[in-house]
This record gives sequence, C-alpha cells and structure tokens, in this order.
Amino acid sequence: MALLEVRSLSKSIGPAKILEGIDLTVERGEILGLIGPTGSGKTTLLRLINLLDEPSTGCILFDGRMVFGKPEKELLCARRKMAMVFQKPVMFKASVETNVSYGLRMRGRVDATGGEMSMSDMVEEALAAVGLSGYESRDANTLSGGETQRIALARALILQPELLLLDEPTANLDPGSAASIDNLLQRLAGSRTAVILATHNMQQCRKLAGRVAVLQAGRLMAVGKSEEITLPW
Ligand SMILES: Nc1ncnc2c1ncn2[C@@H]1O[C@H](COP(=O)(O)OP(=O)(O)OP(=O)(O)O)[C@@H](O)[C@H]1O
Ligand SMILES: [Mg+2]
Repeated sequence: MALLEVRSLSKSIGPAKILEGIDLTVERGEILGLIGPTGSGKTTLLRLINLLDEPSTGCILFDGRMVFGKPEKELLCARRKMAMVFQKPVMFKASVETNVSYGLRMRGRVDATGGEMSMSDMVEEALAAVGLSGYESRDANTLSGGETQRIALARALILQPELLLLDEPTANLDPGSAASIDNLLQRLAGSRTAVILATHNMQQCRKLAGRVAVLQAGRLMAVGKSEEITLPW
C-alpha cells in the first residue's frame, strides 16, 4: 500500500481552477520531485497534502485511510506523520533551540527516539544534520535567509516524519548551502522518510528524486522516472 494516494484532486479558488484531476501516489521512503513553472500549483498541492486546505473535489488517502471528512482526531493523526518546510519559512521570536524543538513539544514526543535522547540532544543532532551546529542560543529572527531555510528543515527533520513536504527548499540559498541541503536529502533517500520535493530545478530532481511529477497550469502532465522525464517547456 502506498504511503500517500491522491485521487482526482481538484482545487478551485473562486472562479479560478488552481488544480485539476490530480492523481498521484507516493511510496514509503521515496523521494518524489514535483516540478513545475511558477504558478503551476506546487505549493497549493503541498498544502492540500499537508491537510492545511481542503480540496474542492477528490480525496487523499494517507496510509490507506481517507483523511478529509473525518473527525479532527484522525486528521491530527495523519498530520503528525507529516512535516512541511514552507517556501518562506517563518521563525518564532525565540531562540533557534525553541524553534527547532517546537514541533516535538507540541506533539508531546519528548522521547521520540525511544527515550534515550534528551530534547537538547535531538536539537543538537538536527542542527548538525543541516550544518548549523552550535546555533542553539541564536535569536532565530537574526538568521540569514539561507540559515532560516536550514533551521526550518531541522525543525521538520527532528519530527522524523513519514512524509516530508519540501517547498523549494534550496531556491533562496547560495550554491554552497544548496549543495549541503542536497547532500542531506541524498542521505534521506532510502530512509523511512518519504519526501515530496517541489522545485523548479530539473537537475536537482535528477540528482535526488527517483520519480518526478510534472505540473503545468494545475494539471499533472507526466509522472515517471527522473532520468526518463523530459519537460514540456
Ligand atoms: N488563495 C489564493 N487565492 C487566489 N489565487 C491563488 C491562491 N493561492 C494560490 N493562488 C493561485 O494559484 C496558482 C498556483 O499557485 P501556487 O502558489 O500553488 O504555485 P507554485 O507552483 O507554488 O508557484 P511558485 O513556483 O511561484 O511558488 C497561482 O496562479 C496563484 O496565484
Ligand atoms: Mg510555490
């Protein structure tokens, strides 16, 4: 059974059809590239998958279970298995440590790794993973754009999600920082975490993603192995 199944999903906002007839599956542990030009609907699709918005028609199955139209408790259960890094991440007015551990505290999962690691050890590990060791006590609102992006990724990784939704995680980074994020994602490949990576960058898809879904004007034009996909633009 696929981890995520999107069936005939459409989203309209007012008279505008933002997404139409999206069918897509994500397998456990895979990295799926979601590529499309600006305005094609990538962010809208990720937000629907992350259960932040409701589709106009169609449905989403997570772990084989329908997630919309269910009691809030079931929605919460699915939401807790996912984490999203937004295109423009927002930091709380607090330290990096508070920001990175926020989701864990919200989820009450102090002992997410079986109780052996303290929260501060987990923060340390997540910061090391994104190359920002020692940033714990920094004020999160004084970080550069690239650092903010990486802290947002640490905040998601610490949750050990089954599905990680990344909305152009390297778009605002210098080549060096982008490469370090790419390396980190490469290491995620084959782990239990599945990733949907929204990007404009086909090179990044070829490097990181096993499969690529091509979105254009709200429709999926193709889904296939990254080395076999050619872009229609
Ligand atoms: N709340 C909204 N109200 C009206 N239109 C919206 C809304 N949200 C998104 N749109 C429109 O839906 C389309 C898809 O937007 P979306 O942000 O999903 O695209 P995207 O592929 O993520 O683009 P980018 O690569 O620039 O981030 C755009 O034309 C956008 O203007
Ligand atoms: Mg977007």
